[in-house]
Amino acid sequence: MEPTKALMIVFLVVLSSLIRFSVCRENYASPPSLPKAHYQEALLRLNKLKTSIDVGSPSPSPGENESGVFLVTLYGADPTGNSDSTEAILRAIQDATRIPSKKRHLMPGVTDLGGAQINLQGGNYLISHPLRLPAAGFGNLMIHGGTIRASENFPPSRYLIDLSETSNKGNKTQKASPNPSQYNYEYITLKDLLLDSNFKGGGISIMNSLRISIHNCYITHFTTNGIEVQGGHETFIHNTFLGQHITAGADPDERSFSGTGISLAGNDNVVTDVVVFSASVGIMLSGEANTISGVHCYNKATAFGGTGIYMKLPGLTQTRIVNSYMDYTSIVAEDPFQLHISGSFFLGDANVVLKSKSGFINGVNIVNNMFSGSNSGVEIVHLDQSNCPFKQIDQVVVDQNIVKGMNLKATVARGSSKGNGTSWTVDFSKILLFPNLIRHVQYSLLSMSGNEFPQYALRNVSHNRVVVESNKIVQAQVYVTVNQCSDI
Ligand SMILES: *[C@@H]1O[C@H](CO)[C@@H](O)[C@H](O)[C@H]1NC(C)=O
Ligand SMILES: *[C@@H]1O[C@H](CO)[C@@H](O)[C@H](O)[C@H]1NC(C)=O
Ligand SMILES: *[C@@H]1O[C@H](CO)[C@@H](O)[C@H](O)[C@H]1NC(C)=O
Ligand SMILES: *[C@@H]1O[C@H](CO)[C@@H](O)[C@H](O)[C@H]1NC(C)=O
Repeated sequence: MEPTKALMIVFLVVLSSLIRFSVCRENYASPPSLPKAHYQEALLRLNKLKTSIDVGSPSPSPGENESGVFLVTLYGADPTGNSDSTEAILRAIQDATRIPSKKRHLMPGVTDLGGAQINLQGGNYLISHPLRLPAAGFGNLMIHGGTIRASENFPPSRYLIDLSETSNKGNKTQKASPNPSQYNYEYITLKDLLLDSNFKGGGISIMNSLRISIHNCYITHFTTNGIEVQGGHETFIHNTFLGQHITAGADPDERSFSGTGISLAGNDNVVTDVVVFSASVGIMLSGEANTISGVHCYNKATAFGGTGIYMKLPGLTQTRIVNSYMDYTSIVAEDPFQLHISGSFFLGDANVVLKSKSGFINGVNIVNNMFSGSNSGVEIVHLDQSNCPFKQIDQVVVDQNIVKGMNLKATVARGSSKGNGTSWTVDFSKILLFPNLIRHVQYSLLSMSGNEFPQYALRNVSHNRVVVESNKIVQAQVYVTVNQCSDI
């Protein structure tokens, strides 16, 4: 055998075992020792390998260890934050999103990356353009454990981590899988990250994706949104802190806070145990069936023009806000249809504003909350009828709230009136939410004039004043219960 030929064979054998090593990381075994093989034997083996593996298979990655963990510093990322690490981290992401040899799917068209992790190794990385996946159609990937900061030349209004379709430099997104899927990504976990947008744009953008989890993140210095979700469903945001400015409240610049902590323009998302400590709007909801639970908003006082939670979902709200803490900042809902607010604490004159867009309100429960204010006459639930009055009102229950230093409002009320005469008025105009609406009245007259049995009747309920009259003078007390709902 010629020496060049022999060298070639050795090279091919080494190459083939290297390829196999990189491809079969689940069945990894130490590479076989080089056989003193015959040319024919080696060729046969190589052909076998060629057919058993994807020819386009990627080469081994420098930052990967056998557990599918991609260490960004091994790709050249600078954990001190001094030099730009964008390309290095993107290379790690590129490697983590290589199509595995044994291809599995989550949703059709979404390639299962098997739990691959981009490990930021507790470093602080400067990036100059968004981190995004090379294509759509990936799932089961985690990015975690470090700080990502936008550099001075980060493009304005983009996101540090961009799981959006349009993120691919204006290119129509390629799919990782040939199967078309309506979802870009599924089950991507962003965990233990500090994201500093450096006043250049936003933190995380998620578009048309499914089951994305954001956990234990601290997102700051955004100018647009801390987290933006568009389309898709089941983005879970939990144990996360968002604030445009790093403050612990009573900030002298609070009036100038801008941006939005979380913007949900999609359905079925969950925000739990989240604090928004600085932003003009804490959470903006423009998609249905989202749940907000255990959220503390002190993002910008309503008195300074801020809003805690804004529901821009006129006519189809379908939102539950429970167990939350609105700290000087209010909840606003436009034409609410199916809205539930309960178990929450409203401090510092924070309240719920129901804003009429076309006069429609239906299926609203504001029950079992605590309100605390400064005796400035702020109503716990306020109707903003500046556009038009609420005309179609049904199933609105505001009841069982406890209040200190604010004006109690309710759709169910009880009262009594005592006097010696023929007419008793119980005035509910201060407490009832809707100005001229009593759908249901129950009353009784307790006669205290010994042997008098007067005839009496309900005479008037207009403007939320209940009038009962009798046919003769009696000393009596009249008890009244009213309800602004129809049949509940
Ligand atoms: C792979 O990375 C994980 C997480 O960083 C680490 O715990 C493990 O020791 C690494 N394994 C090797 C073989 O480097
Ligand atoms: C757009 O995607 C195509 C197909 O993968 C690729 O060849 C092309 O380079 C991309 N263009 C840009 C501007 O990224
Ligand atoms: C109630 O008013 C009538 C007539 O005004 C009077 O005669 C009567 O004594 C009063 N009863 C009481 C208990 O004040
Ligand atoms: C009911 O009371 C209102 C004032 O609250 C009055 O304008 C109206 O005429 C009364 N209706 C009747 C039937 O007395």
